[in-house]
Amino acid sequence: PRQVWITRHGESYDNARGRIGGDAELTPNGIRYADALTRFIAHERGEWEVRQAAKQRALKQPVEAGRDGSHTPPNPHYLHYGADEDGEGGMAALQEKNFCVWSSMLKRGVQCAERFDEDKYEVKQIRLLDELNAGKMEGLTYDEIRERFPDEFAARKRDKLQYRYPGQGGESYLDVINRLRPLILEIERTEEHLLVVTHRAVARVLLAYFRGLKREEIADLECPLGMLYMLEPKPYGVEYKAYRYNP
Ligand code: F6P
Repeated sequence: PRQVWITRHGESYDNARGRIGGDAELTPNGIRYADALTRFIAHERGEWEVRQAAKQRALKQPVEAGRDGSHTPPNPHYLHYGADEDGEGGMAALQEKNFCVWSSMLKRGVQCAERFDEDKYEVKQIRLLDELNAGKMEGLTYDEIRERFPDEFAARKRDKLQYRYPGQGGESYLDVINRLRPLILEIERTEEHLLVVTHRAVARVLLAYFRGLKREEIADLECPLGMLYMLEPKPYGVEYKAYRYNP
């Protein structure tokens, strides 16, 4: 079985200022997350050099784990994996196959992915993984949008899934779902393990797709910075784990 890992990039300067969109670089915090991520994945793959260092790794046990799929209720109870301290769980499976790291083409995504050693990982950038385009609202904070464009703010709140940001290139969640279709096919065709480094809206769509969640759940799906999700497709559905970064 192969695993699909999904995460947002580390904290960017726009995240730190509360600005949406843009193409900012990682903050020192964001760089620390990127480093923790590479160590964690290397550890999960059993790269022995990192096993010792990874003992102090910041991403530890999954904070959530469970199954989704047509054979299980949509909201399974969450298990806490306290005993997985050495992360032996998925390791054997991860060692067998190549490991791809796909990121968006935005600086904050690229900066995360490029920390993976190109000799050991197939690293590539894919524009389809770029964040939902907020059109003329790019670079604003939610407060600024509410003050300057109250009607738009209200319209988005009413129907976040369908709401398309005005201005050049502006997208809705439905637009993002559509643009991700070919990429989802490619992810499904890929037999190797895969880490996708992307952005909040895109991560929500991918997570919802692989977990079989309803469309209506996508736009408000909990998906904070610092979470790393592992999805393992199984005949009966999908097994998933969520890891939280402890800085
Ligand atoms: O704030 C980070 C961010 O990725 C923005 O670039 C993007 O517009 C937003 O999150 C998407 O989240 P939401 O749809 O909840 O506004």
